[in-house]
Amino acid sequence: MSIIERPDIQSAVPTLPASAYRDPALFDRERREIFAREWLLYGRSDQLPNPGDFLAATIIGYPVIVVRQPDGSLRGFHNVCRHRAAMLTQETTGGLPGGMIRCPYHSWTYELDGCLNRAPGFGAARGEVEPAAWSLFPIAADEWRGLVFIRIATTGPSLLDWLGPIVPLTAHYPLESQRYFTEKNREVAVDWKVYGENYLECYHCPNMHPGLCEALDISRYTIDPHPEHGLFHLYGPKRDGSATDGLYFYRFPFLMLNFYQWGSSIATLEPLGAGRVRHINWYLFSDISPERAEENSRSAEWSAQIVTEDLDMTMGVQRNLSAGVYERGILSPRQERAVHAFQNMVRAALPGIG
Ligand code: FES
Ligand SMILES: [Fe+2]
Repeated sequence: MSIIERPDIQSAVPTLPASAYRDPALFDRERREIFAREWLLYGRSDQLPNPGDFLAATIIGYPVIVVRQPDGSLRGFHNVCRHRAAMLTQETTGGLPGGMIRCPYHSWTYELDGCLNRAPGFGAARGEVEPAAWSLFPIAADEWRGLVFIRIATTGPSLLDWLGPIVPLTAHYPLESQRYFTEKNREVAVDWKVYGENYLECYHCPNMHPGLCEALDISRYTIDPHPEHGLFHLYGPKRDGSATDGLYFYRFPFLMLNFYQWGSSIATLEPLGAGRVRHINWYLFSDISPERAEENSRSAEWSAQIVTEDLDMTMGVQRNLSAGVYERGILSPRQERAVHAFQNMVRAALPGIG
């Protein structure tokens, strides 16, 4: 007996080629042509509440810094001094003394908005240091409902436009009332696309996620691609007696918002190279008092266990994509429609990928 029913063979579509998941030259293209052009989840508003607070990190190979402005808005910069390229700070978070960004190398100082304030020691050449011409290199930075995003490219859609239908579709969900409880970050040998594709089908759920299937009615799990918004809307209704349903959003290239009745699991990927990624996951709850700690931990562990199951499987997938036997597979038109849509987003961003 054939394992694929005949009607499906007609419409099965090919996957991306295995080479797309292991090629360092392609990763370079992804970095410039996808990651640098999209909004990336970067931090949480509670990490920089006051004017002068900053959050610095290296993201997709770019050292950057985001600074809270006196008017409460955020601005982002490359973490590079315009003088001789020093890091403006080596710290990841903190406050800027005197409301200035001071380079620790030769003490050039910048206003919180990035404008050069002082370049000491230039003597007669001082007139050549025109402040506007030596401002910090900007990046885009903004926040939405307590989540901070950056974009390396300074031009492109606003964060709200980029989030698109996520904004109205989550309006009922009390994200602002939830507080950070814990996080679990893991560096794994899995390509960002392998992880994204896995997230975007529940074909594997009955085989691999006993805990998820106990909570959600997987037979009624839906995944709706909205390619025009780079968005996937996923929903799993709860089973009778279960504590929660599951409302999920995946925004290309790799923002994952997982909303439950008990709280939320906010996740993203940081691609580290071809076939390598850091999976970053924060768990937020409305009540983070000590009395609730045990129950919150249980919920976070339940959610993290699903990721563990996915990572265990996808690490094997990645090993095989790198090994050179498997070249290309096919996708189920019924079960992997969203994977196909995701791969088409990759194809659109990287012409010629195959
Ligand atoms: S490199 Fe920053 S002041 Fe010299
Ligand atoms: Fe999964």
